[in-house]
This record gives sequence, structure tokens and C-alpha cells, in this order.
Amino acid sequence: MSLYMDHSATSWPKPEMVYEKINDYLRYNGASPGRGGHKKSVAAGRLVEQTRKDLANFFNIEDSSRLVFSSNATEAINICLKGILNSGDHVIISSMEHNSVLRPLWALCQKGIELSIIECSQNGELDPQKVKSQIKSNTRLICVLHSSNVTGTILPIKEIGNVAKEHEILFMLDTAQTAGVIPIDVIEFNLDILTFTGHKGLLGLQGTGGFYLRSGVEIRSWLEGGTGSASESHAQPEEMPDKFESGTANTPGIVGLGAGVRFIEEVGLEKIQKHEESLIEALIIGLKDIENVILYGPLDPTRQSAVLSFNIKNVDCSVVSHLLDNVYDISCRAGLHCAPLAHKTIGTFPSGSCRLSPGYFHTLEDINKVVGAIFDIEKMYR
Ligand SMILES: Cc1ncc(COP(=O)(O)O)c(C=O)c1O
Repeated sequence: MSLYMDHSATSWPKPEMVYEKINDYLRYNGASPGRGGHKKSVAAGRLVEQTRKDLANFFNIEDSSRLVFSSNATEAINICLKGILNSGDHVIISSMEHNSVLRPLWALCQKGIELSIIECSQNGELDPQKVKSQIKSNTRLICVLHSSNVTGTILPIKEIGNVAKEHEILFMLDTAQTAGVIPIDVIEFNLDILTFTGHKGLLGLQGTGGFYLRSGVEIRSWLEGGTGSASESHAQPEEMPDKFESGTANTPGIVGLGAGVRFIEEVGLEKIQKHEESLIEALIIGLKDIENVILYGPLDPTRQSAVLSFNIKNVDCSVVSHLLDNVYDISCRAGLHCAPLAHKTIGTFPSGSCRLSPGYFHTLEDINKVVGAIFDIEKMYR
């Protein structure tokens, strides 16, 4: 039986109810939400708004209109960074960030943004004091990920949020690796901006994601067009979420995302988190004693999300992942995982690592099979 160990890239399979809700929408509705007064359009609009409300509730967002849908986390991050930063602004990030944050910021540096990248420890951990020490009079934004897609390392978000609040600096969190598996509370974390992706831990489809903007935080619109509202006006509506949602929505995707969130609520986030912790713990225990296997990250299930990077000494990670795929039918990702600075931080640049990322539907038996396969591969190369 094949084992899909690439949930950090995208989760699969989805809960049955995700497939069912999308199927129902496509077969029995299929209309464009909020475009016209006919029954199907109104019903489709309700489905979109229900997902918005469910997600807002999930992140403890009081006003669901502050939650905007986008195509993925990358788009959400770009909209927020480019909509809020001006020439002369200073931004602080960590060395574990994904290219979805690094590349827009490097592009913005060409337009006069100043960037400070805080070096994390070799297992990806960030000292909040270092964030404090980088603050300058023009610091506008602190932007970090919740957990690394390379090592799983969870960053001290509450502490960083407190630093941001104390210095009246905007705080933006990339929850691509944690939404749906680790509790997130915009109030408790003092978040001004949260970006999320729908197709990983939230168990929805690819092509979904979005962001939350705290009330009072205003950013430039990025795309003008039809919103189904204030159509007589030449100007893009200022109302949320219409300001950022021009064009026909990805309704099947949003319906699926809503079902993913409902599944998580029904199972219980705590149960999902505990199960994923047990899987990653078993992986760490199973792999750490295999000769020539090097593990990266905190190696503590309570300090990392369900991601484990490893290498076999003197064997290229792409060879290991190829063997896992073609001999053992285990899918995992090798290379730099779109996070070159994270690999510099942990000492695996430029070759990268093999990354295993199990999901909620895996069992300890699955993990044992992965450990056995890596044991065999290492023996083969000894
Ligand atoms: C930490 C992190 N941020 C952002 C993203 C971008 O997510 P998406 O591909 O859905 O835009 C990813 C995707 O892997 C990620 O791991």
C-alpha cells in the first residue's frame, strides 16, 4: 500500500465529507455566489459565507468580514505585504521563512523596503529577544511563520506578539503549516494579519487560502473588478471582504474548505494535534538510532509540527526520496522545500534534506513501515 508522507506540501486524502460537499455543490447548485438574486446564487453565497464564518470562528476572529479568501497562502502573503508596506518601512522576519514571504520581500527591497532577517538556532528556534533587538524607529512589521515547513519548529508566537504590541508594530503570521493542526487565536497571539492556506492542515482543496486583517488595519486593494456589490461605482468597494474579492470565487474549493474545517471541529483539534504528535514522536524514535541517519529540528513532538527532515550521510536526499518512492511507494519531498534560508540555518544548503510529513489519517503502523524502509536504504549504502 502506498504511503503519502507529504502533508506539508498538501494534505491527502481529504475527509470523506469534503468530497461529498463539493460533489453536492457541483451537481446540485453550481451557481456563482452573490451574483444575482436567483435561488441558486443566493444558496451558493450562503455556502461561501458559512465557510467564512466557520473559519473566523476557528481562528477566534470576531468579525468574519475581516477574513478574505484567496487562491493560496502565497497570494494572501503577497496581497498583505505589498498592500501594507511603503518605501522606507523596515520589516523583521526569521531565517526559517518560506519563499512565499522571502521573495515578495526581496522584490519589495528593490522598492526601498528595509529587511532584517533574524538568524534562528540550528534547530530552527527563534529567540524573541533577538526580535526586540532588531526594532528600529521605522520598523513597521514583524512577519514570521508559525512552524517551519523544513524542521517543523514552532516559533514562540505569543512572545513575539507581545514584543510587537509593546512597540506598536504590526504582527503578521504565516500559518500555512499549522492551521488545522495547532490552535491559533488571533486575540491571544495579538495578530494584526494572519495568512492561511486551505489545502494543508485545513483539509480543503488546492486553490484555496486567505487572510485576516484586524479591524483598523487597512491595506491597499490589489485587484479591481466585479464584486457583485456597488456595481454602479467606478471605484473598488472599500467594504470588507469585497475590497479584496473581485471576480467569481472558487466556490467548490471554499465549500470543500468549509467541510474540512467542520471535520476538524467534529474530531477536535486537540485530538488531531495529539495524534500528529504521536506520529512524529514515533518517527523520531524510530529514526534517531539508525546509523548514518541525521535528523534536523527540535526532535521534540511538543516543539514541532508533524514534519521531520533527515539525511543519510553521503547519500543525496533526492536519491533517498527516489528510492522511498519507487521501491517502497512512500511519497516524500527532497530538496530545499522553497525555504533556502531555513536550510542555511540548519546546515543543509544547498543539497537540502528529505522531508517526511505524515497526516491525521496515518497510523503508527505506517510510521513503522517508513522507519523500516529508511533502515533498509541506509544498510544498502553502508
Ligand atoms: C511555511 C509556508 N508558508 C507558505 C506556504 C505557501 O503555501 P501555498 O503553496 O498554499 O501558497 C507554504 C507552502 O508550502 C509553507 O510551507
